[in-house]
Amino acid sequence: MDEDAAKFHLLSETRYKYQDADKVVSGIGNLEGHILEVGCGPGFFTIPLAKAIVGKGTLDAIDTSPEMIKILKERLSTVDLPVSRVVRTIVGDAERIYYPERSFDLIFLANTFHDLKDPKGFLVRMNRIMRPGGFAVNIDWSAAESEFGPPAQIRISEEKSKKMFEDAHFVFVENLYGGDFHYGQKFTRP
Ligand SMILES: C[S@@+](CC[C@H](N)C(=O)[O-])C[C@H]1O[C@@H](n2cnc3c(N)ncnc32)[C@H](O)[C@@H]1O
Repeated sequence: MDEDAAKFHLLSETRYKYQDADKVVSGIGNLEGHILEVGCGPGFFTIPLAKAIVGKGTLDAIDTSPEMIKILKERLSTVDLPVSRVVRTIVGDAERIYYPERSFDLIFLANTFHDLKDPKGFLVRMNRIMRPGGFAVNIDWSAAESEFGPPAQIRISEEKSKKMFEDAHFVFVENLYGGDFHYGQKFTRP
């Protein structure tokens, strides 16, 4: 991915029209505890997530791209709330990073599931590090080709995503608002 292009699109004015980040975050429900955001990019969702958990929890925001993390840090420093104290930014690969079992109350990923090299292996890993009773939220592009977004052939449909999470022993809870061209899914772990 060309990082400048990605940066531009990921924070473009157009995007704010078709995907309301605050609405996505408020749709998740009560946020508290320890959150992991996988593939945070420049923070389109990280900042609303961080604002929602100030005083109630912490957020690890991980991305393989140092450039994305740099932009995220700059953006966090401009927010008029102590979000920098809540967010730990990590340059790393969520398909390889180690966390102890049952570390997280919420695992959130947006527009990233279709980018993973081994999504099945990733889900097994995420299930292990999520607390029983915690939640996983996946927001990703709907399968139908749209004016924006990744090519249709690399998208993971809503049905396929649900099956993959269930195969990894997540239990489907409900569909969430994801955006005009996106689906949102919430899962738990018994
Ligand atoms: C399309 S961007 C989405 C960024 C952000 N979630 C958003 O919706 O604006 C996908 C991001 O996932 C990151 N990514 C891809 N594979 C990853 C992995 N295995 N671990 C961590 N980050 C990853 C990419 O570097 C990129 O920043």
